[in-house]
Amino acid sequence: MKTAFALKPRDYLATPEKKRFLNIALFSELSSRYGFITRILSFDRDRAWKRRLIDELPPQASPRCVDVACGTGDLTILLAQKYPNGRIIGLDLTEPMLSIARTRCRFPNVRFLSADMGRTLLDETSVDILTGGYALRNAGDLRQAIREIHRILVPGGMASFLDFSKPPQRFFQGLENLLLRIWGGFWGCVVHRNPDLYTYIADSLQQFPDRRNLKALFEAHGFQVVRSRLHFAGVIEAMTVVKSPP
Ligand SMILES: C[S@@+](CC[C@H](N)C(=O)[O-])C[C@H]1O[C@@H](n2cnc3c(N)ncnc32)[C@H](O)[C@@H]1O
Repeated sequence: MKTAFALKPRDYLATPEKKRFLNIALFSELSSRYGFITRILSFDRDRAWKRRLIDELPPQASPRCVDVACGTGDLTILLAQKYPNGRIIGLDLTEPMLSIARTRCRFPNVRFLSADMGRTLLDETSVDILTGGYALRNAGDLRQAIREIHRILVPGGMASFLDFSKPPQRFFQGLENLLLRIWGGFWGCVVHRNPDLYTYIADSLQQFPDRRNLKALFEAHGFQVVRSRLHFAGVIEAMTVVKSPP
C-alpha cells in the first residue's frame, strides 16, 4: 500500500512557490505522526535540545514571543511555560500542524497564526524573542525569511533556532547527506510506506547554506551570532542571534 503523498520533494525546491506548495502537502500528510517521528529520528534527543534552547533564553517579565514554523507547538508550549506573563504567537503555514498545536497548547497567553515566515503580517519591531525549530530550512526564500525576522524583532531582540546543520567540508556534507537519506528513507518506509517524506530533510539541507555561510548570512542581515552549539557531531545546531542596534 502506498500513501496518497506522491510528490518527490527534490522536484519542488527550485522556487519559493513550489517549496511552499510542497511544505503544505508534506506537513499535512505527516502531521498526525509528527511528534512520534521527531522522537524516533532524533533518538529521543529532540525534546532535550528544545528544552535547552528555551532554558537559555533570557529571563524577561512579559516578552512578546513568536515561534516561527511552530508545527505542533513544542517550542510554543515551552515559551508559554517559561514566560507565563508573555504574549506568545505560534506561526505556521500548515493548517493540520496548527490544529494539533491548538489542541496541545491551551495557555491563555498563546495564539496561533496561519502565516508564512517570510511574510508574517506582524508589525515592525513588535517581537522581543523569536524561536524556530527546524524552521529556516523550510523557508521558500531564506533571505526573505531572515529579512522578515529582522523587521519584526526589536533592536537587541533575540532569535534562537534549532535545525539540521550542514558542515562546511564537502566530505562531511556528503557523509551527512548519505546518512540522512538512509535514516529518513528507512523511517519513511516504516511509518508511511513512502521513503520520500523524510528524505526531504536531506534534500532541503542540500539547498541550505552550510553553518559558516548561515552565520555570514545572518551577519550580513544585521544580526550578531551570540551562540552556536552542535549536537550529534554537528548534524544538529542550536544557534542564537541578536538583532544589532541601528
Ligand atoms: C519540521 S516542522 C517543525 C515544527 C516545530 N517547529 C518543531 O520544532 O517541532 C516544520 C514546520 O515548518 C512549517 N513551514 C514550512 N514552511 C513554512 C513557511 N514558509 N512559513 C511558516 N511555516 C512553514 C511546516 O508547516 C511545519 O509545521
